[in-house]
Amino acid sequence: MFPAVRMRRLRSLKLIRETQLSIDDFILPVFIDDSLKGETKKTIGSMPGQYRFSIDSAVKEVAEARSLGIKSVLLFGIPRKKDETGSEAFNTEGVIQRAVRRLKKEADSIVIITDLCLCEYTTHGHCGLVDPENGRILNDPTLKVLGKIAVSQAKAGADIVAPSGMMDGMVKAIRENLDEEGLTDTAIMSYSAKYNSALYGPFREAADSGYQFGDRSSYQMDISNAREALREVELDIREGADIVMVKPAIFYLDIISKVRERFDVPLAAYSVSGEYSMLTASSEKGYLNREEVMMEGLTAIKRAGADLIITYFAKEVAKLLR
Ligand code: PBG
Ligand code: ZN
Repeated sequence: MFPAVRMRRLRSLKLIRETQLSIDDFILPVFIDDSLKGETKKTIGSMPGQYRFSIDSAVKEVAEARSLGIKSVLLFGIPRKKDETGSEAFNTEGVIQRAVRRLKKEADSIVIITDLCLCEYTTHGHCGLVDPENGRILNDPTLKVLGKIAVSQAKAGADIVAPSGMMDGMVKAIRENLDEEGLTDTAIMSYSAKYNSALYGPFREAADSGYQFGDRSSYQMDISNAREALREVELDIREGADIVMVKPAIFYLDIISKVRERFDVPLAAYSVSGEYSMLTASSEKGYLNREEVMMEGLTAIKRAGADLIITYFAKEVAKLLR
C-alpha cells in the first residue's frame, strides 16, 4: 500500500513555512574611514557593492538603512593614525566616538553597535597588544585597553559594544569597566565563538585590519572544533555577555544549532565578508543567482537558530522583504 501520508499535499499549498526571515533580524555592518572627507564614500575592491564611508556619508547610509526598516548597525572605524597600542580606539575624538555622537543625534532610533577591537587601530594589525620580544599576543594587558575602549564608545552613545578580539576574560573586563563608570545599560554582544577563518579575507581591505606578521590562531578558534565553541559561549555568558555570537555563519551552521540548543541567551551569527564576496563573484559570473542564494543562505542561518544576523546583504534583503 502506498504511504498514507503524501508530503506533497501541503507542500503544494505552500502553507507551512517553518522559518521566516524578518527585517528585525538583520544588522548592517558600516565601515567609517576617518581619512574620507565630506560626503565621500570609497569602494571596497574585495567586496563589490560595499563601501567605506566618511562620517557624513555614514550618517546618510544609516538613515537609509533605517528607512528600509533596518533596526541596527554595527560600526567599524578606520582611524587616520595607528600605533603599537591602538590608542586611537579610546580617543574621545576618535572616528567611532565622533560618528556615534553624530548618529545618536541624527538617527537616534537606530540601535548602535560598535565593534570593539584593536586590529584596525594597531600598526601590527593584531587584535591584542603584542610582546615586542617574541611577537606573542598579550591577553591580560589587552583587557585593560578593551575596557577603556568600551567606556569611551559607551560614553559616546553606543547601545551595544561588540568585542571581536577573542581575548580570554574580555567580557568580564568590559562589564566591570562599564559598570564602574555607571554605564550599566550598555549591553555586550560578544564574538564568543569566532573561528580562525579564511573567510575574513575580503574584510582586511574593508577595515584595513590585515596583520603584519603571524596569524590569529593563538586567539581565534580552530576551525575543527565544535565542543570548544560551547565552552567559549558558556564562559562569555558567565562573564556577563547579553548576546553571544557565532562567526562565520554559513560554514558553521552546526555550531549555531548546537549553541541554540544548549543556551537560552540571544544568539547572533555573523555572515562574514567572504560569504558576501563568494556569492557576489559567482553571481557576477552568472554561476549562481544572487538573490536566490542570498535568501537561501540567510534562511539557513535563521533555521539553524540565530536570532540576529549580521550581513552585508542587509539592505538588499530589506528591500526584498518590504
Ligand atoms: C577583527 C574582525 C574581523 C572581522 C570582524 N572583526 C577580521 C578578523 O578577525 O580577522 C571579520 C568580519 C568579516 O570578515 O566580515 N576583530
Ligand atoms: Zn580584531
